[in-house]
Amino acid sequence: MKNIVIFGAPGSGKGTQSDNLIKHYGLFHISTGDVLRDHIKRGTELGQTAKGYIDQGQLIPDDLMISILAQVLDDNRDAAQQGVIFDGFPRTIAQAQALEQLLADRGTAIDAVVGLEVPQDELIKRILLRGKMSGRADDNEETAGKRLEVYHKQTSPLKDYYEQQGKYHAIDGMGTIEEIFDRIREQLD
Ligand code: AP5
Ligand code: MG
Repeated sequence: MKNIVIFGAPGSGKGTQSDNLIKHYGLFHISTGDVLRDHIKRGTELGQTAKGYIDQGQLIPDDLMISILAQVLDDNRDAAQQGVIFDGFPRTIAQAQALEQLLADRGTAIDAVVGLEVPQDELIKRILLRGKMSGRADDNEETAGKRLEVYHKQTSPLKDYYEQQGKYHAIDGMGTIEEIFDRIREQLD
């Protein structure tokens, strides 16, 4: 396995399980949410644009997001060679198609999509619990609701997209962090 997409709704555990995947498989982690939050923190122009969308629970436009991802891949060419965990990307069919092309241009491809499946009430619970200390502007009840709506409309169709390619691995995302990682490992190995 080289390139893995970790897929799931907001709060499903993508970041948490990415940490386990990095340690276990030695992959390079790209979280597009982290990349954008870093720009916001540094007050870049891109950060200012991104903040407008993130605070509303909306997606950054595809063209912009795809160019950001291409830049991250190019800036980390060596590290990315051993394989990448894509966390929070792709989020639309257009992003998935662009990712295929970006990877093909670099002589590689997506090997597996790990889909963390968690019921809606648990997602809200996790996001609000984290919101008490994360300082993330989008971890409040109103924005969390918007993020979930956007996920269902724009991102969840990717499950079918990757199922059709035979790459989607559904993972029960309920239980302890360790239990869930055991399930992921079982599928990937
Ligand atoms: P992003 O940063 O990707 O956020 P998200 O998808 O909304 O998901 P989260 O990071 O909130 O959750 P997660 O699945 O990583 O779960 P975590 O491990 O943290 O995106 C933020 C925004 O950026 C988007 O809304 C959009 O505006 C923009 N953006 C990003 N990428 C984009 C793209 N490609 N295109 C366009 N726009 C983009 O876990 C959540 C909480 O639960 C944590 O507190 C964790 O400790 C806890 N937890 C984890 N596992 C468990 C467990 N098993 N049991 C109990 N609690 C658990
Ligand atoms: Mg995350």
